Amino acid sequence: MSISNRPDRRTFAIISHPDAGKTTLTEKLLMAGGAIHLAGEVKARGQNRRARSDWMKIEQQRGISVTSSVMTFEYDGLTFNLLDTPGHEDFSEDTYRTLTAVDSAVMVIDAAKGIEPQTRKLFEVCRLRSVPIITFVNKVDREGRDPFELLDEVADQLQLDVCPMSWPVGMGGQFEGIYDIANDVLRMPADDATGAFEGRRESVSGLDDDRLDALLSDEGAQRLRDEAELAVGGYASFDAAGYRGGDLTPVYFGSALKDFGVEELIRALAAHAPSPRAQPAEPAAVSPDDANVTGFVFKVQANMDPQHRDRIAFMRLCSGRFRRGMKLTPTGHGKPIAVHSPILFFARERELADEAWPGDIIGIPNHGTLRVGDTLAEQPGVRFTGLPNFAPEILRRVALADPTKTKQLRKALDDLSEEGVIQVFYPEIGSQWIVGVVGQLQLEVLISRLQHEYKVDARLEPSPWDVARWIAADSDADLKAFIGLHRSALANDRDGQPVFLARDAWEMNYVQGKSPAIRFSATKERH
Ligand code: G4P
Repeated sequence: MSISNRPDRRTFAIISHPDAGKTTLTEKLLMAGGAIHLAGEVKARGQNRRARSDWMKIEQQRGISVTSSVMTFEYDGLTFNLLDTPGHEDFSEDTYRTLTAVDSAVMVIDAAKGIEPQTRKLFEVCRLRSVPIITFVNKVDREGRDPFELLDEVADQLQLDVCPMSWPVGMGGQFEGIYDIANDVLRMPADDATGAFEGRRESVSGLDDDRLDALLSDEGAQRLRDEAELAVGGYASFDAAGYRGGDLTPVYFGSALKDFGVEELIRALAAHAPSPRAQPAEPAAVSPDDANVTGFVFKVQANMDPQHRDRIAFMRLCSGRFRRGMKLTPTGHGKPIAVHSPILFFARERELADEAWPGDIIGIPNHGTLRVGDTLAEQPGVRFTGLPNFAPEILRRVALADPTKTKQLRKALDDLSEEGVIQVFYPEIGSQWIVGVVGQLQLEVLISRLQHEYKVDARLEPSPWDVARWIAADSDADLKAFIGLHRSALANDRDGQPVFLARDAWEMNYVQGKSPAIRFSATKERH
């Protein structure tokens, strides 16, 4: 059975390196959608706003901040769900997993800096799932790098076809406007002292139009003609299938701070970004039109209050029409859960609501039963696949203060790794358990939770290993031979999957080079 009249959604995330302008752009998107009215609200949410709706009260009662996890706004009758991916250097795997819950992403690049390390990391995650990406080159109001250089960098470093959709006429002090290549519209900042780029729009017949000479300086007009012509000829033209397949990125230039080019970005999302898509699952992919209500948990946020085990599980709805109070069963474990007080994220005001549709995010309060990676379904029997585990970047050995607590420690490590807080590796030889995390912050969370929730006093010590890779081979014999040869560097993860541990990147490369039959993987799908 399928559902009819399903409202459409654009569920997306912004990926960027800290300081590229994600917060500023988020604000401007929410303002354009009427979700917020004052700049600065995303960063500095005042108490007034917090108290404004029931939803906020829930947040206060539970003492947790879920406010910024999902932001919803409407534009032109279409609902956009923007999922937050924290951009700190110490981000956790949450960040990555959030990207499994979106249908597309906007990659924000600072025009002066180009691709930075965090952008790249997040991009790799998008690539794993072929998430389509629209690129926004931000801060054109400041001196930036040559646009050709920036486009080439995206193409070379990320192995993507790039398609400039707009072209800046100069940057910084020389900035005169942005030319919309597909529609032949020149957008220019308003000439006023406030610095706001309200923007004038002038339609022209093409780059040859004489009016450009009147609208721009001689130098600007010449520059636009030369550069835009080269750009159109030199880069891929827009191809919707290429974009949706994750092979091509349309590139827009703008300034989030001056609200320039933001509206074009929303229009691009509305026009090109995919609606909720079928999600990979077993026994078969789940179509959003399927009447069975299904979703998966991509993030679990624990209560700040250590006395309670309350958590909010964030579920991406994949199919069906969700109604408040309905029963959903977590696949693989547990009884049906009646979802009486789901947190739904509404345009303008966030409040308790009665229904949600594929592409929407639902917050489900629970007592630790729901875990990252869980599938929930009205009629069980389906399981979503493809939530990756990431190669940890920091490995530590866990040392117990009291050796009689080994059992508790193992339980805690298993639990926490199921929740996605850490990864745990049990070496084949010896009794030193290794934990792996993506960011330092996760180690602090680990120690504190071991102490308070599991009453286990543990220390983290340097690990003899620095790099971990899941291993696999087409032939069992090859895998066994490799394991036999490297037993002292072999471990099993929580699911018993073999992991090779190396002292450093050099050793990893060396062993990899000598073992062509083995696949070394930095990521692992959750099962
Ligand atoms: P992030 O969330 O990606 O970390 O970046 P955020 O939006 O906080 O922006 C980082 C800095 O860059 C901020 O300045 C912000 O004002 C500035 N910025 C963002 N977009 C633009 C733009 O289009 N043009 C220019 N010129 N600057 C931009 P800050 O001084 O570090 O912070 P604040 O004190 O202004 O908040």
